[in-house]
Amino acid sequence: MNRLLIVALIFFAACNSNETREGFVKIDHPNSHVDVHSFAQPDSAIIKHLSLSINVDFDSSVIRGVAAYTIDTYGAKTIHFDISDMDIVKVYIDNPDKLDKLKSVKFQINKGNEHGDDLVVPINEFTNTVHIVYKTHPGSRALQWLSPEQTYDKKHPFLYTQGQAILTRSWIPIQDSPGIRVSYDAVIQAPRGLIALMSAENPREKDPYGNYTFKQSMAIPPYLIALAVGDMEYRKLSKRTGVYAEPGFLDAAADEFSEMDKMLEIAEELLGPYKWGVYDVLTLPPSFPFGGMENPRLTFGTPTIIAGDKSLTTLIAHEMAHSWSGNLVTNATWDDFWLNEGFTVYIEQRIMEGLYGKEYADMIALIGYEDLENEMKYLDSSDTQLKLNLAGRDPGEGMTAVAYEKGAYFLKEIEKTVGRDKFDPFIKAYFVNFENKSITTEDFLKYLDENLLKPEGEEIDIESWIYSSGMPEGFKPEPSKKFLYVEKVIADWLNGIPITIEQTANWSTFEWVHFLRFLPEELSIGQLTELDGLFHFTQSTNSEIQAEWYVIAIRNQYHIADTAIENFLTKVGRRKFLELIYTEMVKTPEGKKWAKAVYNRARPNYHFVSANTLDKLLDVKKTSIQF
Ligand code: BES
Ligand code: ZN
Repeated sequence: MNRLLIVALIFFAACNSNETREGFVKIDHPNSHVDVHSFAQPDSAIIKHLSLSINVDFDSSVIRGVAAYTIDTYGAKTIHFDISDMDIVKVYIDNPDKLDKLKSVKFQINKGNEHGDDLVVPINEFTNTVHIVYKTHPGSRALQWLSPEQTYDKKHPFLYTQGQAILTRSWIPIQDSPGIRVSYDAVIQAPRGLIALMSAENPREKDPYGNYTFKQSMAIPPYLIALAVGDMEYRKLSKRTGVYAEPGFLDAAADEFSEMDKMLEIAEELLGPYKWGVYDVLTLPPSFPFGGMENPRLTFGTPTIIAGDKSLTTLIAHEMAHSWSGNLVTNATWDDFWLNEGFTVYIEQRIMEGLYGKEYADMIALIGYEDLENEMKYLDSSDTQLKLNLAGRDPGEGMTAVAYEKGAYFLKEIEKTVGRDKFDPFIKAYFVNFENKSITTEDFLKYLDENLLKPEGEEIDIESWIYSSGMPEGFKPEPSKKFLYVEKVIADWLNGIPITIEQTANWSTFEWVHFLRFLPEELSIGQLTELDGLFHFTQSTNSEIQAEWYVIAIRNQYHIADTAIENFLTKVGRRKFLELIYTEMVKTPEGKKWAKAVYNRARPNYHFVSANTLDKLLDVKKTSIQF
């Protein structure tokens, strides 16, 4: 072979080798992180914009339609999508010969794992768009199809989606990694008489034909694409805030969330301008598996925070805070989940401090610390690090108090070290610097070091906080004066001094939760009857208090509460409460029998997310009970 040819071949090979492509990718590819929970890989073609066009069919519990993507090929010959619980009907790409026509292509589905499969579509250097025609299965995990009886008004069916962490792939074929961001527009055909809402610019009134269009111009991670269809009405609360709820629930929701505008102002003061336009909350039917979900422009929320006295609106501050931490700056992989939640809990507490003062925020932090201590008892030690390793596991397993509370305490530690006057401008600059980006823990640590710790000549024990188990040695949370008083009231009561209504008259939900947690594990029926008589815990309408009290009732066989417990478990689908209560029930053989009987009746009302966790807790084989 002549030398020139060899040189030319080597040059050619080098241009096409992974090395060069990786080099190129690392500089220019927007998704440079390997995400073990997605088939879309950093060096592959990547989606930029989604145009979704779907029909929502309540009769068959199926979504049918087309997901059309604008893509960047990055020289790749294939593009990979995550899919689960759906049929792919056809795939088209642009036709370079006839620009106005699409070309059908032969796609391949590589079997993946329980979280989904790998849809591989051939592309070429001319491919700008990929159109996927698909149809979901009735059991698609992100979707919960509710019958009219499962709604508040009991008149119309309801559908909502839950995308986080990796469920969006079960209702849209997508590159389902938080390291990948897409803008989207959508056309949704809903049944007449219902309204469709998304994490986008939303209608405020029903369309007589059930036809709705949406636009989300910010590039967001796929887990934030969300849809709800049902009988909902809108109420404006301020220039930028409002609520959607079923008509019969709208007044209650509007009253409860009246402080949202004030919260938004406090958040902006701390973090810089709110970039999403409006902040609305949709109150869903009670089966929603979370307290809240920070879908951009439209937080999805559980009705269990409507306590009638605004006492549970910390959750709104939390979801609002995600408008910055999570939605603007996103964890690049689920191993970095604390970047979303730890920051959010920290900001949530700052918002509540701005609204109700430091003593209030201190209580929230301490309740979080109690949750953390309690949960760490049951976690594998490696799961108590902030940086996780979720390879081969469900990313939901990283959703523990560690990301939330240890994450928030880590940020508080930095705040304490450098002082608020330095920390606050740093946080603001952080959101400007990483706006619309997905980042890893290490990206944050580098930024922290270069922009705060080094310039201030300060050090933080990063190794202990981020890469080691548990809390750093010697760590003590700041005490709360209000909680010390609660503890004194309990101590006096145990010494025979009756508790008076006056002592507890101004207690917040947090004081009550602490009170219930601080009671001795074992209580007599007499003691429980006395407390219940005074404070009406069994009949409480505050879900946080109910959950804590029901655990105490179960543990001490206070059967007076049994009916209330069963009602709660059959009505509410919020996983946090269900897990707490069922876990206490299964501790005894009779309790386990009771739990299984209640679960059997209640399970059709639970979303996949909750049912999946509880199936394991109650050793239920998934096939034995059908939705
Ligand atoms: N983003 C989370 C919910 C989530 C996390 C869903 C991981 C799926 C996977 C949301 O912001 C959240 O943290 N909700 C909490 C509320 C809160 C005040 C801590 C909840 O639902 O309880
Ligand atoms: Zn959150």
